[in-house]
Amino acid sequence: MPLSLAQLRRNYTLYGLRDDCSQDNPLVLFGQWLDQARKTEVPPAEANSMALATVDSHGHAHCRILLLKGFGADGFFFFGNYQSAKGQELADNPHAAMTFFWPGVERQVRIEGPVVKAAAELSDDYFDARPAASQLGSWASPQSQPLAHRNELEARLREVTERFAGRQPPRPDYWGGFCLQPRRIEFWQGRPDRLHDRLDYRQQGGEWQRTRLAP
Ligand SMILES: Cc1cc2nc3c(=O)[nH]c(=O)nc-3n(C[C@H](O)[C@H](O)[C@H](O)COP(=O)(O)O)c2cc1C
Repeated sequence: MPLSLAQLRRNYTLYGLRDDCSQDNPLVLFGQWLDQARKTEVPPAEANSMALATVDSHGHAHCRILLLKGFGADGFFFFGNYQSAKGQELADNPHAAMTFFWPGVERQVRIEGPVVKAAAELSDDYFDARPAASQLGSWASPQSQPLAHRNELEARLREVTERFAGRQPPRPDYWGGFCLQPRRIEFWQGRPDRLHDRLDYRQQGGEWQRTRLAP
């Protein structure tokens, strides 16, 4: 094995995650960490970007970067094309895992749970608030489908631009929000000498139970 990667090593020294200072509600802790990551991450990093893993009907895993667009008591919201590969995978197997990595604060958060489609009104509100070019892009792009050439996409964009000239495009019914309803949220704080802190919150009977895990 070439050693150049194996020799890369960073010691994590910035923060700790103490039991007595931690929140009973992981959503509160997530909000605090996201706020801090937004202040710390250096552009072009986006603190709300995360890896979303899904599993298809053959049991094969797929993972891609998405942007988190909101979170709260209902769950964690992201948006995309319901007919995309991820949309199909979530229709077949409505469970997912999302992972945030915030190197500026030496932190990772892992969130797992079932996924449902967001309410149509919420998807409408989000779509209406998007820039016009992004709205047209949602109409033009058959996300995850093969394209013969980029020209095909550009021709589709010209066609929808003409179709919606002078008016705001409505939300396509194949595009909208997904809501991951968290059943497990794990906070990982890098610590010196690989003795990291891990706090694992699991929902049991409507309550969050917190456990410290070995790194
Ligand atoms: C920084 C970044 C942000 C992204 N945000 C989104 C997003 O919010 N929604 C989305 O559908 N795709 C987003 N993508 C593209 C996805 O990674 C992916 O290519 C797309 O959703 C198709 O994935 P699928 O074929 O597995 O459905 C983003 C990619 C990057 C690198």
